[in-house]
Amino acid sequence: MNIAVLTGAGVSAESGLKTFRDSNGLWEGHDVMSVASPQGFANNPVLVLDFYNQRRKQLLEVEPNTAHKALAQLEKNHEVTIITQNVDDLHERAGSTNVVHLHGELLKVRSTFDEDLVLDWKTDLNLGDFCEHNHQLRPHIVWFGEAVPLIEIAAKIVEQADIVVIVGTSMQVYPAAGLIQHAREEAPCYFVDPNPSIHSNSKIKVFAEKASTGVLKVIDEIEKM
Ligand code: OAD
Repeated sequence: MNIAVLTGAGVSAESGLKTFRDSNGLWEGHDVMSVASPQGFANNPVLVLDFYNQRRKQLLEVEPNTAHKALAQLEKNHEVTIITQNVDDLHERAGSTNVVHLHGELLKVRSTFDEDLVLDWKTDLNLGDFCEHNHQLRPHIVWFGEAVPLIEIAAKIVEQADIVVIVGTSMQVYPAAGLIQHAREEAPCYFVDPNPSIHSNSKIKVFAEKASTGVLKVIDEIEKM
């Protein structure tokens, strides 16, 4: 079967990465527009670089959890595409081979001069780190107010899916949250989140629990189809 999986920060919560909007989440301790917008970067690049340096450092200290691993295993029997809003690489490290990063990747940076000039980056990024054209490098992250270049590809993936699985997202950030609208009428949809923003209906079955247990239940249902 062709399965599209849309994930958010909740899938990585049990690995030890904070979500954004839960209490004690990342956006509680930071002003979003200061650290995640082009204006914020223009006003105080050091603050922004430091925010993502901390995230990058933390990412290198954590491991994929049961949910990432179970989703990777799903590839054994199915065609699976993970569409993630996460900028971490935990799906890849768990073994998923087909991952679309809607909001960019923490372990990549790009030139402020040429957005297609993208480099792998595992250490701190500092003011004065330049691309080959002598322009400052910035995190390869989609900031608020910026276009989401992969959204059309993601919408097509959802349109073609026989099953849609959503894990650990507050479904508050568009256009990602709108992807569910692209699911085919006959495609069963599952949503795993301990504090779900959607309730079960004829179209979607909700598992109001953590990713580590909820994803296994969804996979159980899929394998019984
Ligand atoms: P949010 O922080 O908005 O939502 C996290 C979701 O994860 C919530 O619905 C929680 O209930 C759920 N959650 C918490 N613990 C969980 C667990 N153990 N298992 C499963 N779910 C759990 O994060 P996102 O929806 O991913 O964008 O946020 C979307 C975007 O907003 C992010 O990609 C980021 C942010 O601003 C950018 O930075 C561009």
